[in-house]
Amino acid sequence: MTQALTYTPDADPARAHGPYPGTFIVFEGGDGSGKTTQIKLLAEALTERGYSVLVTREPGGTDIGEKLRALVLEHGNGSIDPHTEALIFAASRAAHAHQKIQPALEAGTIVLCDRYIDSSAAYQGAGRGLGLETITDLSRWATGNLLPDITVLLDVSLAESRARAGARGHADRMEAADDTFHSALHSAFRSLAQAAPERYALINGAQPIEQVHKQVLDAALAVLS
Ligand code: TYD
Repeated sequence: MTQALTYTPDADPARAHGPYPGTFIVFEGGDGSGKTTQIKLLAEALTERGYSVLVTREPGGTDIGEKLRALVLEHGNGSIDPHTEALIFAASRAAHAHQKIQPALEAGTIVLCDRYIDSSAAYQGAGRGLGLETITDLSRWATGNLLPDITVLLDVSLAESRARAGARGHADRMEAADDTFHSALHSAFRSLAQAAPERYALINGAQPIEQVHKQVLDAALAVLS
């Protein structure tokens, strides 16, 4: 099914730069795009500079979220239908946003989150064909419209992403999906970033780790300044 890839939620400047003293930085990208490595390096760099940093991930991040994560990613649940899958990710995100991310932002913490609303837009909206707009709106409702100050999109080619994910030696339900699915979500991530460049740092994730890190750090420091 062909999906419109141009949907951009209305930018709300009052929220886009955060009503909270903390800063919300999200990392997005396909499987094997290097998010975990880059989040760790950024957390270390910001901690060294004296910032208080919280690293968290989706799906998961709360007790209920970790249970939902196991439910939706396990191989044994191969028959979950796309609507149920989308609602489970949104439920996990609601708990995460309300119970963990927002309180941390209120306390002045920098929150580094591995995946957020755009992952649902890309995987469920584009990959599963449920529509970017519907899926984005569902998550915006679920989170009380809690949006990142900046989203770091680590862009790697489908082939590179597949090779890296394969080297990790396991594939969860999403990673096991076919190439049409993965190419749809790669295009969706790119188009989301291109549609609102002021809210994204689009970084070539195929570069050496240190080079990617430098660009990620520059993007984070620009939001913090
Ligand atoms: P994870 O092991 O965290 O993968 P990665 O290290 O690539 O982030 O597994 C999360 C998987 O769940 C990943 O394949 C993307 C998928 N996912 C969705 O399909 N929708 C979502 O909303 C989220 C947050 C993740």
